[in-house]
Amino acid sequence: MTRPHIICHMITTLDGRLATERWPVSEDRLLQVYDAAVEEMQPDGWITGRETMGHYMAAGEPQLGTAPENRPDRIGDTAGRGLGICFDRTGRLRPEGEDLDGDHLVMVLSERVSQAHVDHLASLGISVVFSGPEGADLAGALARIGAAFGVTRLVLEGGGRINGAFLSAGLIDETSTLVHPTVDGQGGVPAIYDHAADTRPRTLELMSVTTREDGVVWMRHRVLS
Ligand SMILES: NC(=O)c1ccc[n+]([C@@H]2O[C@H](COP(=O)([O-])OP(=O)(O)OC[C@H]3O[C@@H](n4cnc5c(N)ncnc54)[C@H](OP(=O)(O)O)[C@@H]3O)[C@@H](O)[C@H]2O)c1
Repeated sequence: MTRPHIICHMITTLDGRLATERWPVSEDRLLQVYDAAVEEMQPDGWITGRETMGHYMAAGEPQLGTAPENRPDRIGDTAGRGLGICFDRTGRLRPEGEDLDGDHLVMVLSERVSQAHVDHLASLGISVVFSGPEGADLAGALARIGAAFGVTRLVLEGGGRINGAFLSAGLIDETSTLVHPTVDGQGGVPAIYDHAADTRPRTLELMSVTTREDGVVWMRHRVLS
């Protein structure tokens, strides 16, 4: 199984920080630049971490069973729509339906998540894909998503912790970085790649640089090694 091509697409300050609510610019304005770039890249769907998706739906306590259980994925009907994929390894998010702004929701869970929670998500038409006993098998989950839905190109849309986990696992093929003319300056603000465990720097090759609205610079890089 070949996994989809992954492009990490983010809008950041010059110092690589992500907390857009701190910037002296409206979110609508940022979204216009951000979404226009996504449209140009024509992905089959997008990916976020649990924390970022928590801005769009309720969250609660983890929904864990007694032990990891190897189970088949539950694949819903996309009806030709794009995919919105969220990595929520302990089952904390509480989506209310499978449609997310016109995209089909796919929840990626660890094998520790309870069968009751999986059945509930599937009853809403949401697709469920497993990512190993502890949620660390990102590559396996992506390969099965590619095979089940026939998708070949996905954008990874943060935040920094899921981006960092993907980068560290060698799962980012390209980066797409919109640098807004702002310096955040505050230490500890979430950064574009924020892996908690040991990792190594990666070498990039510049593919293109263009200037967008409001002085935003759009850099695209290929990840070499
Ligand atoms: N400027 C931008 O373009 C942009 C884009 C997106 C987000 N953001 C901002 O970034 C911030 C959130 O970033 P974040 O880094 O805190 O959160 P995140 O990357 O959205 O989510 C991190 C969570 O993903 C879950 N996860 C599942 N599998 C994982 C794995 N293998 N490795 C690591 N995590 C895994 C974990 O949840 P559990 O601990 O529950 O397992 C982890 O805590 C928000 O403030 C958001 O607004 C900015």
